Amino acid sequence: MSEEVLITARDLRKTYDAGRVRVLDGVSLEVRGGEMVALWGASGSGKSTLLHLLGGLDVPDGGEITVCGLDPRREAHRLTLRRHHVGFVFQLHNLIPDLTVAENLRVPALARGAPAAATRTRIGELAEAVGIAHRLNHRIQDISGGERQRTAICRALMNSPQLLLADEPTGSLDEETGDTVFSLLRHLVQTRGIAVVLATHERRFAEQCDRVLRVRSGRIESGRPAVGSG
Ligand SMILES: Nc1ncnc2c1ncn2[C@@H]1O[C@H](COP(=O)(O)OP(=O)(O)OP(=O)(O)O)[C@@H](O)[C@H]1O
Ligand SMILES: [Mg+2]
Repeated sequence: MSEEVLITARDLRKTYDAGRVRVLDGVSLEVRGGEMVALWGASGSGKSTLLHLLGGLDVPDGGEITVCGLDPRREAHRLTLRRHHVGFVFQLHNLIPDLTVAENLRVPALARGAPAAATRTRIGELAEAVGIAHRLNHRIQDISGGERQRTAICRALMNSPQLLLADEPTGSLDEETGDTVFSLLRHLVQTRGIAVVLATHERRFAEQCDRVLRVRSGRIESGRPAVGSG
């Protein structure tokens, strides 16, 4: 495979609560453009923690990490990473409840300084692709959980990231809508060569990824897309 390496992590360590909660204990991985990689592991195993480190939302206690050529341990790099290179779908969405769907989608484009007309077009395309175009002018607090999740996915894709980190992006979607969203991500990986790393508890999605990284006991084990229990 000749696609460029987007993530390199070596011996990542992360603890919480002044070292009392040891979550990641020597995680190493490499992810290239054009790959769709599943993080698979029991609740509390550290999937969200790892995604936060990769997306520059939190910093490791130790280890080496390079994401899209930047060092997420450095504050200035974290900012550039989040604004220009990485889209992040949060497990709890983190949308702004008082704003409409369209206003939430405009936030990352404003942060990047994108032209208004292009932003409007992009919002329309993404909303159409995940089936929320009819909800663009509704406030987040008034829409369903699945519609919020799809809004969060669109927000993460607004700036056309090289790397999408998605924390259970289909967790509150019915089977059909989940399949639509997964197919959209698959399509982006295949046609744009972006990389997607997603935490999931859903076996059918993990099995459709190119690789499954199993998070267990603070480490990851790489595997084929055949997933065992928990
Ligand atoms: N800020 C924090 N302070 C203390 N402990 C934390 C903090 N964040 C996470 N943890 C703990 O770290 C462990 C890993 O959490 P994490 O959210 O990464 O797990 P996860 O694999 O994403 O779980 P789930 O599948 O339930 O989302 C858990 O035991 C969690 O309680
Ligand atoms: Mg989690």
